[in-house]
Amino acid sequence: MFEGKISLTGVKPTGTPHLGNLLGAFLPVVKMAQEAAKTYVFVADLHALNAVKERSAIRNNTYEVAATYLALGINMDKTVLFRQSDVPEVCYLTEILMNVTPKGLMNRAHAYKAVVEKNQAKGEDSDAGVNMGLYTYPILMAADILLYNSDVVPVGQDQKQHVEFARDIAGSFNYLYGDILRTPQPVIPADSAAIPGLDGRKMSKSYGNTIPIFASEKDLRKLVMKIITDSKTPEEPKDPEESTIYHIYNGIASAEKTEALKQRFLSGGMGYGEAKQILFEELNNLLKEPREKYEYLMNHKEEIDTVLADGAAKARIEAKKTLDKVLAAVL
Ligand code: TRP
Repeated sequence: MFEGKISLTGVKPTGTPHLGNLLGAFLPVVKMAQEAAKTYVFVADLHALNAVKERSAIRNNTYEVAATYLALGINMDKTVLFRQSDVPEVCYLTEILMNVTPKGLMNRAHAYKAVVEKNQAKGEDSDAGVNMGLYTYPILMAADILLYNSDVVPVGQDQKQHVEFARDIAGSFNYLYGDILRTPQPVIPADSAAIPGLDGRKMSKSYGNTIPIFASEKDLRKLVMKIITDSKTPEEPKDPEESTIYHIYNGIASAEKTEALKQRFLSGGMGYGEAKQILFEELNNLLKEPREKYEYLMNHKEEIDTVLADGAAKARIEAKKTLDKVLAAVL
């Protein structure tokens, strides 16, 4: 599906990567990088700024995101891994694109609208707490996408609108200035259905119900044992679709293993404690080796710095080419 394509994706450094991110983003991107001709993966630190003001938090999360990709073995022969802010050309392109982006388009952005609706429900000013970084977020994201001539942009369902905006913005630009920017396609990983967290709601940092990908073995076990279940006895048959344990297992185990666990849920005779133990072992087998690599990298951040610097140098070459073409057409 990605053969011969240039793919690109960004990850905001706004929290320690968790299993929801692993299944919805990291693993699909690692797989895509194996298939695509070239993959750009960057840590969107400029995008984090609208919400996160502590430099140390952004820095640390940036290392965590980069180390996660490296630990999961992303194919570095074909991947350019970098930090968004190391390519300042993206800000220049953003400024140019501002002028072909209707304000009304930004008013329709889901993330912005959600804040406005919350404010209105509370009887506050519609734009309370909204900074221009949040409001213009989709334009910076369009610049990210258009700067590297990407064909495909894998994103979660929540980001699909942003990729469509990037297409719209590229269309407006090209209409005015000629066929300069390549319009990419969003790709939503097939198994990107939200995985549940410890409390059964969607796994999300904002709910405090996450399992970090690289929790220590001990913490991983503890967290898995904390997954909330109903109070069925071991003997009773259980509905796998209702179980967080089953949903997480389904995301990581082979189809055969998942089917086997499903049958054990349905036939009864398996307590939740045992199901959790099965899930823990599967997770731990999957993550054991990457965890060691991750811990090594987080203790040798200079090695991550080297990778990111190398990525930035490569990304800037492409970024400059696009920006030069854009500027030659515009000014
Ligand atoms: N907005 C994306 C998110 O919140 C991160 C992101 C920034 C991104 N720039 C991008 C994703 C470009 C894909 C392409 O997850």
